[in-house]
Amino acid sequence: MDRKTSKPETIAAQGLGWIDEATRAVSPPIHVSSTYLRDADNQYRTGRSYIRADNPAFDQPEAVLAALEKGAAAALFSAGMAAASCVFLSLKPGDHVVVPKVMYWGLRLWLFDFARSWGLEVEDIQMIDLAAVRAAMRPGKTKLVWIESPGNPMWNITDIAAVAEIAKKAGARAVADSTVSTPVLTHPLDLGCDVVMHSATKYLNGHSDIVMGALVTKAEDEYWQRISSVRSKIGGIPGSFEAWLLLRGMRTLYPRVKAACANAQKLAEHFSKHPRISEVLYPGLKTHPGHAIAAKQMDGGFSGMLSIRIKGGEAAAIATAARVQLWKRATSLGGTESLIEHRGSTEGPGAPCPMDLLRLSAGIENADDLIADLEQALDGNG
Ligand SMILES: Cc1ncc(COP(=O)(O)O)c(C=O)c1O
Repeated sequence: MDRKTSKPETIAAQGLGWIDEATRAVSPPIHVSSTYLRDADNQYRTGRSYIRADNPAFDQPEAVLAALEKGAAAALFSAGMAAASCVFLSLKPGDHVVVPKVMYWGLRLWLFDFARSWGLEVEDIQMIDLAAVRAAMRPGKTKLVWIESPGNPMWNITDIAAVAEIAKKAGARAVADSTVSTPVLTHPLDLGCDVVMHSATKYLNGHSDIVMGALVTKAEDEYWQRISSVRSKIGGIPGSFEAWLLLRGMRTLYPRVKAACANAQKLAEHFSKHPRISEVLYPGLKTHPGHAIAAKQMDGGFSGMLSIRIKGGEAAAIATAARVQLWKRATSLGGTESLIEHRGSTEGPGAPCPMDLLRLSAGIENADDLIADLEQALDGNG
């Protein structure tokens, strides 16, 4: 049986069914060598020479990711930010790129602070408005459109297929940050994107104990060769142990993401009419403006991420977060444990995030425990 044609749950749970031929080990060994022997006749027959370009510890997790995203190849990076920045650094100074106004704040800052000074023309638009996407295209000049759906921290839904088509018509690539959707819920390459990016720090690993990024490409084209070259030249690679941890984490990706989605849906529905909450932002709610598109492009859930806006503003939001006992007051997302964060304090001045917003990453605990803890934290606002 061709393992790549197995169902994704099977591919993830068995790490593509790989067995170490030397020992028959079911879990792979961790290769740590930074360098490889050159043959006496001066050849490198294994194709490996030095760890910055290539590492056998990446082979299996990259193959699993490529299979789950239905891509031609994958590459691991030292962080989600290393993966994302490599996408942009593989373009040329003078190229025009279009990004959403609502997106992961750290990348947005890097784009406007660094990438602009490096020579990229970075333009931000409301990516949920297709007319705005069309208007932003400059054929011949626009080289890349960046999509993040659901988008941090408002969970805006972008119509990935529609945006990818507009980009393609203008001769630009479409790249999706699918960190929050994960390959469990959305397949951006099937929807017309050229490359998918993940902060593997989040759901892919799932245990809040590594930092890592990944890219998956639809085609091993010239742009992908450039990405691989930039990764190896800059050295934005993870360590062997982290790559092994990612592979271990991905074995439970499907049950974890499904459990987090179910918890997030329950939380969103429970708190949507709460007297101390002005708004629950979650694409799984029928009232969310992006619900219909989310239902079309997400399969099996609407992610484990939601935000709540607290009546009483910033002080009430920070006070609510201060009272939780079970939820963990921390940034990041996608772990087994539920996290709560006053997002405005993390993003700082200039961010579009409302200051009354608490960002919630639903973990895989019992939903009733999570609801009870948040209820008591909100009670204190009375
Ligand atoms: C959606 C999204 N993209 C990218 C990143 C950056 O990833 P990393 O922290 O692994 O560099 C994050 C981190 O929070 C994120 O939430």
